[in-house]
Amino acid sequence: MKTFAADRFAPNDTELSTLRNMIDGASILVTGATGTFGKVFVAKVLSQFNPGRLIVFSRDELKQYEMQNTEPYRSNADRLRFFIGDVRDAGRLEMAMHDVDIVIHAAAIKQVEAAEYNPFECIRTNVLGAQNVVEAALRNGVKRVIALSTDKAVSPINLYGASKLASDKIFVAANNLTGNMPTRFSIVRYGNVMGSRGSVIPVFRRMINEGADSLPITDPRMTRFWITIDQGVNFVLSSLVRMQGGEIFVPRIPSMKVSDLASAMAPHLPQRVIGIRPGEKLHEMMIPEGDARTTVRLGDCYAILPAYSFWRDKDAPPLQAGELMADNFSYTSDNNNEWLDIPTMAAFLQDQAM
Ligand SMILES: NC(=O)c1ccc[n+]([C@@H]2O[C@H](COP(=O)([O-])OP(=O)(O)OC[C@H]3O[C@@H](n4cnc5c(N)ncnc54)[C@H](OP(=O)(O)O)[C@@H]3O)[C@@H](O)[C@H]2O)c1
Repeated sequence: MKTFAADRFAPNDTELSTLRNMIDGASILVTGATGTFGKVFVAKVLSQFNPGRLIVFSRDELKQYEMQNTEPYRSNADRLRFFIGDVRDAGRLEMAMHDVDIVIHAAAIKQVEAAEYNPFECIRTNVLGAQNVVEAALRNGVKRVIALSTDKAVSPINLYGASKLASDKIFVAANNLTGNMPTRFSIVRYGNVMGSRGSVIPVFRRMINEGADSLPITDPRMTRFWITIDQGVNFVLSSLVRMQGGEIFVPRIPSMKVSDLASAMAPHLPQRVIGIRPGEKLHEMMIPEGDARTTVRLGDCYAILPAYSFWRDKDAPPLQAGELMADNFSYTSDNNNEWLDIPTMAAFLQDQAM
């Protein structure tokens, strides 16, 4: 079905052929490539395209070693480079980006509580790391950079969200610095990735497996946006084709109540309301009303357009060709026209063994 279809947001035939021209023979660097997003992105690029070089950039050698020794990465060793580095280290990033054409920036500290407890660390990785990625990309003449963002960056109430908002601002404004260079920076923003490391699905799964007699629910009204990792990767690939610099691309994805998710995972277990935790919202927001006037709808997604766009290629089709949203438009997880129901989610989780 469409909601969970692995090919949802996949590039269409025209976009695929543009992507082939862009990626085949090219060098791609992915920061945070050993994470949930990075591994699937790298696998998809290896299976669908023929990049000359794909650089896995992250800190932990064990995660890199394990990735290096599993399929499909093992059998693509000739095209993969395992580069140990920290996005906080500007010199290392600059070295890693030599002759790189495309950068996908996925490295982040993303646990809300860890960011609250370790604010300096969060800012160094998510904000200063973003600045380092921008500067290294500019110095090396990288052609396209996409940075991943989150719904938590919109009207943030925790430091993780605030640091990603700062990162978004850095990447949009980076286009101001490009002069006559071809480098363009854009953002992809989406909601909860089902089953990603540290997310609620693996937490509920562990509790159920350990024989919990109830599942904790912060608030029965709480809603979240949901996307599968395949869909997130597809969307980044399509955005690589659509980007002209400075857009924040937001896929149109379903919402679900967290209590319905718990029912889908454990229909037999009662739910225990524990109250909203500090730094959590009842509902998430992907596009605030304040951005409505610069937001266009492009089929399966929205694009928040940048306030300035003097760097755009004058011959490229204008993104404004999309439908401009009304002044009072906002896109929030409780005000969505696509909802996940319990049986659909239960079937998907069973199918994915989550
Ligand atoms: N998961 C979600 O639900 C979700 C939703 C919306 C947006 N996002 C965004 O999507 C991106 C990817 O998320 P994910 O779920 O794939 O995260 P993840 O599974 O936690 O992976 C994070 C990756 O970043 C690397 N990393 C962390 N700090 C680093 C540093 N200082 N320098 C270099 N690499 C570093 C980690 O490897 P090492 O620890 O070895 O360095 C790992 O490879 C993030 O920007 C996140 O904000 C995620």
